[in-house]
Amino acid sequence: MNIADANKKKLIKKTGLDKYYKASSWAGYNKQMFDKLAPKYDAGNVLHSFGTKWMYDRKAMEKIPFPPQATILDLCTGSGDIAIYLAEKYPDSKVVALDVSKEMIKLARKKATHLNNIEFVEGDALALPFKNETFDVVIISYGLRNLTNIEEGIKEMVRVTKRNGFVSSIDQGKPQNLFFKFIYKVYFYNIAPVIGKIIFHMGEYNTFRYLPESNKYFPHPKDLVLLFSKNELKNVQNFDYFVGAIAQQVGQKI
Ligand SMILES: C[S@@+](CC[C@H](N)C(=O)[O-])C[C@H]1O[C@@H](n2cnc3c(N)ncnc32)[C@H](O)[C@@H]1O
Repeated sequence: MNIADANKKKLIKKTGLDKYYKASSWAGYNKQMFDKLAPKYDAGNVLHSFGTKWMYDRKAMEKIPFPPQATILDLCTGSGDIAIYLAEKYPDSKVVALDVSKEMIKLARKKATHLNNIEFVEGDALALPFKNETFDVVIISYGLRNLTNIEEGIKEMVRVTKRNGFVSSIDQGKPQNLFFKFIYKVYFYNIAPVIGKIIFHMGEYNTFRYLPESNKYFPHPKDLVLLFSKNELKNVQNFDYFVGAIAQQVGQKI
């Protein structure tokens, strides 16, 4: 068993995923969790980001130089907010939004009926149904951590990106400020799981526990920069938001 598999096993036990779902693999648990979460996903995001997620998502998109008439791929699109934002902001672009969860894709489609430059695909980020070098920009947000293998996910993103195109990931970071670190820990370990249990996930899997636990096994932004650079990406930069609670890596395909 490699480290990634061992960590996913620990995560399943630690968060109690196996008490609510039955699956033979990490990917199976993850898909069931997000299918079940879909109707509550947007409200959950507002709650645990204190309503700031949309703002930081937009700031992060400003760091990517989208060319005119860009072809854009949003992986692990979830309820589709970032993909929809980009399709609206760049009406001459073509956006493809992919997710493995049928329920998330259903929800995202409903939110995008006013757009004709966006397409939703149910699929696996680790086995993309696209030819090499198809997209100008490939993004993923709060998605890499869910993949069975993070490096394989980055490789697949790079494979479908055109030469000189851009790859970006946004996810939780590792805040360094001691006071903020303390508040962050108290909130994510003591307050959020309780809010989750009382008002949000009554009698079902508490995704508010998944967030801090999965972040423990998620690489430090510095290591993600190295991983990007090792995988055919140049000029890789890290951008921190919200005192480092959120981090984005952007690189250009060699
Ligand atoms: C935390 S949500 C992020 C959604 C969205 N990108 C956002 O920023 O709100 C993670 C998403 O990754 C999806 N996902 C997990 N594993 C996947 C895989 N192997 N391929 C595609 N999507 C996957 C889940 O279904 C879920 O919708």
